[in-house]
Amino acid sequence: MENLDKASNFLDRVDGGPRSPNAVDRRMVTLTAPASAAAEQYRTLYYRIERLRDLKTLKVVALTSAVPGEGKTLTAVNLALTAARANPDRRVLLVDADMRRGQVASCLGIRFWPGLAELLADECQASDAVRRFKSTRLMVMPSGKPPEEPTQMLASARMRQLLKALREGFEEIYVDLPPALPFADASILGAQADGVVVVVRANVTSQKNVRLALEHLKGMPFIGCVLNGAQPDAAPYLKLY
Ligand SMILES: Nc1ncnc2c1ncn2[C@@H]1O[C@H](COP(=O)(O)OP(=O)(O)OP(=O)(O)O)[C@@H](O)[C@H]1O
Ligand SMILES: [Mg+2]
Repeated sequence: MENLDKASNFLDRVDGGPRSPNAVDRRMVTLTAPASAAAEQYRTLYYRIERLRDLKTLKVVALTSAVPGEGKTLTAVNLALTAARANPDRRVLLVDADMRRGQVASCLGIRFWPGLAELLADECQASDAVRRFKSTRLMVMPSGKPPEEPTQMLASARMRQLLKALREGFEEIYVDLPPALPFADASILGAQADGVVVVVRANVTSQKNVRLALEHLKGMPFIGCVLNGAQPDAAPYLKLY
């Protein structure tokens, strides 16, 4: 697994807490605590990806993991918020492509529809599905209402056309995917991305599952791995490695 450290990063546990449905989850530290060490880690991750951009086109960066609950959404949202802040001249989009249980909208405290599902079903316009997030420069396409056949929708020609159109409209697109092992969705969309990042929950995801996920994603443009240290007893703000 030597290639795992191409863009490896270690993200600390970030504390949440109760909130109202319209409020931003406090774990979106790049927004709620931009001066924190945790937010700095997302900036480091972002600049690592940015350095890779000198070597290859990385317009569409997709995030997945082996199994559910490893921190894909938290990482994708913080990364996209960081990207939107970093380069005022670039248009940045976050797409929630987890059509089974998309959580991007809930993390940001925004409405989850209309979004990707409605756009793919031709039930709304792109301008309704893609919305600016509050006063930031980040544009967000939430997942929409869970469709009956998410894999089929993601594998459709319409989805390919949509990604092509989005590539025209944005300089950076971050895609939050479902986990790779239980569903085909991640490999279908991962193949259409320029770079795939695999999130690994430190001390929780087994090595076997990480290996299996990487096997599932064979042939994908894998660019690196993020170790997400979401351990209740983890020391705060561990160093990057
Ligand atoms: N670094 C972290 N610090 C604190 N909590 C975390 C961290 N990473 C993840 N969590 C929490 O763990 C849970 C799962 O995280 P998240 O939703 O980002 O994972 P996911 O991989 O997107 O899950 P799913 O597969 O269900 O989409 C959430 O409650 C999230 O806030
Ligand atoms: Mg998720």
